[in-house]
Amino acid sequence: MKNLHVVDHPLIKHKLTIMRNKNTGPKEFRELLREITFLLAYEATRNIETVEIEIETPLEKIIGFAIEDKKVVVVPILRAGLGMVDSILELLPNASVGHVGVYRDPETLKPVQYYCKLPPIDNSSTVFVLDPMLATGFSGVHAVKILKDRGAKNIVFVSLIAAPEGVQQFNIHCPDVPIYTACLDRQLNEHGYILPGLGDAGDRLYRTK
Ligand code: URA
Repeated sequence: MKNLHVVDHPLIKHKLTIMRNKNTGPKEFRELLREITFLLAYEATRNIETVEIEIETPLEKIIGFAIEDKKVVVVPILRAGLGMVDSILELLPNASVGHVGVYRDPETLKPVQYYCKLPPIDNSSTVFVLDPMLATGFSGVHAVKILKDRGAKNIVFVSLIAAPEGVQQFNIHCPDVPIYTACLDRQLNEHGYILPGLGDAGDRLYRTK
């Protein structure tokens, strides 16, 4: 699983354990998703482009660095991916945001797209696709294909929890896309839920169950 980067850090482990707990309520769940995404983003953004800029400190001129965040596109997969957007935008305030809406057909578990609105994307864009749960990988791979069709060459997938089945889908269909995640869980159940997982991330974020 060479495209998988599990960001192993005590802060992430601690916060993820609270998120997994079924007694954790929506407010804390949302805050923790935001906080862990912030920590994941630190690693996931490691290769984004910087340009050298000249500035003056109070004492002298130096060559510093600036991130070209206008070239960054953040694409949450609706709806649970929305819970990860704000922390990325805190770090990259000039990034543009696109949305891809995909739901899983409950019988086939295959992705059905119901929404897609993207900003201009080209081969110089860096695109961060966000979905807290990388389960079957069908939705993630679907989103990546849409982005590649628009010309994206540099795509990074950020998830909170990944299942081996989802990582395998990425390995097969888009091995060039690195996955950053807080944890690689054991497996999927017969309904496509990650075990041990944390349940339905969208339902827990938006209290829809
Ligand atoms: N989506 C979720 O929200 N949870 C899972 O376990 C799998 C997919």
